[in-house]
Amino acid sequence: MTRFHSSLLGADHRIAEFDCGNEALNGWLRDSAGRAHAAGVSRVTVWNEIGAPGAVAAYYSLSPTQLASREGLSRSVSGGFTVVPAWLLGRLAVDRRYQHQGVGRQVLIDAIETVVSLADKAGGRLIVVDPIDQAAARWYETFGFAPFGTDEAERPARRYLRIDRAVASLRQAAKQ
Ligand SMILES: CC(C)(COP(=O)(O)OP(=O)(O)OC[C@H]1O[C@@H](n2cnc3c(N)ncnc32)[C@H](O)[C@@H]1OP(=O)(O)O)[C@@H](O)C(=O)NCCC(=O)NCCS
Repeated sequence: MTRFHSSLLGADHRIAEFDCGNEALNGWLRDSAGRAHAAGVSRVTVWNEIGAPGAVAAYYSLSPTQLASREGLSRSVSGGFTVVPAWLLGRLAVDRRYQHQGVGRQVLIDAIETVVSLADKAGGRLIVVDPIDQAAARWYETFGFAPFGTDEAERPARRYLRIDRAVASLRQAAKQ
């Protein structure tokens, strides 16, 4: 039986109560997500446990983006294009109460499936993530996301997943 319900961010979601343990990600949901969502800058998807409507169990944000091949993309990744259309998974977080239960993995799979479906209709070659810290970066790598660019001194490098390989990556991740 499905445990969670997924919907776009709405006025009924009690975003101030959300706590994933990372204040930057809590604060973005609380202070900026509604504005970004309403303006169409990004779309925010919220998961809540069935039977607990309004209580945010997890969220992620998606937006269209583009990368320049000179940002450190190899030719096989850029496809030989100077400008590469992509989808940015800007933020993803799970409330502490639901962490270490496989929810993050399910939410990431939901986000990737959404992008695969969008790309089928609207294009886009890569899914890009900005890991909040090195632990998050390693977590994304378990799903096949690879770093690009070189400078990891200040913060983790961005990670990408080729959309045409995302389905295979998801199948692989599901086996782990
Ligand atoms: C990262 C986060 C999304 C994971 O959510 P979650 O629901 O706990 O994840 P899951 O239960 O699906 O997966 C956890 C498993 O992934 C693996 N994992 C977790 N962190 C890992 C890491 N740094 N490296 C490799 N594998 C890792 C482990 O197998 C872990 O199993 P465990 O819980 O038994 O230790 C959640 O902890 C979170 O919101 N953290 C704060 C915000 C954040 O870091 N977001 C990342 C995106 S910027």
